[in-house]
Amino acid sequence: MNLTRKKIVAGNWKMNLTLQESQSLVAELIGMIADEKKNDCEVYLFPSFIYINTLLRQTQETSIHIGAQNCSNKSTGAYTGETSIRMLSSVGCKAVLIGHSERRTYYQETNITSAEKINLAIEQHITPFYCIGETLNERNANQQFEIIEQQLNEGIFHLNADHFSKCVIAYEPIWAIGTGLTATIDQAQEMHAFIRNKITEKYSVNVAQQVSILYGGSCNEQNANELFSLPDVDGGLIGGASLKSRNFMNIIKAFQ
Ligand code: 13P
Repeated sequence: MNLTRKKIVAGNWKMNLTLQESQSLVAELIGMIADEKKNDCEVYLFPSFIYINTLLRQTQETSIHIGAQNCSNKSTGAYTGETSIRMLSSVGCKAVLIGHSERRTYYQETNITSAEKINLAIEQHITPFYCIGETLNERNANQQFEIIEQQLNEGIFHLNADHFSKCVIAYEPIWAIGTGLTATIDQAQEMHAFIRNKITEKYSVNVAQQVSILYGGSCNEQNANELFSLPDVDGGLIGGASLKSRNFMNIIKAFQ
């Protein structure tokens, strides 16, 4: 963990929770976070689109940030069922997940569509959380570094240094998502350091030292402390363990 970079714990709720369950979870978290005065980690929640407005209002006076799990790669127009970045901006949403592996796997999203979405998010001053990660086959074939480099090159390295500095990177090895298999601390540190080196090569040491790189993939209250203490891990993007307030709060507390 580095003291100058933002520490972030983010919950990606995916397609879970009803409106009432979401509001109860947020109410519980607000109470628990208010009791944790010493914690300086930033908390983001990524609920379903249809709850964003309500949860933004519920968290208005708190330190919790609400983001979207996805956005359209088009700016406006006849795209039935899509949600544009301008729409997200108009309700006050400040962050968006881009390129999550589930979007890539089930909805054929690519590095190129991610780049288009990132550009729209930057234009509207919404923080992109760009998600990257390799499959198990790619890791078994020792191609993980190549894959990550390509995801960076094609998806986000077209940004200038100023815009890139506003982004968050989430490294989520696909084989660790929802499987209970976490990357070992060596695997996580190795890949996070690799990503930071690539940022240094592309931009500068300064930029690389500013950008938070989160780990995602079966991160939970048992392993968060160890993962977050690694020099290049600046927090976590949490799926399953973000759906219960106590579990998620214990992950936030891993930063103390
Ligand atoms: P799990 O924490 O459920 O493995 O999900 C990780 C993830 O995909 C977060 O975006």
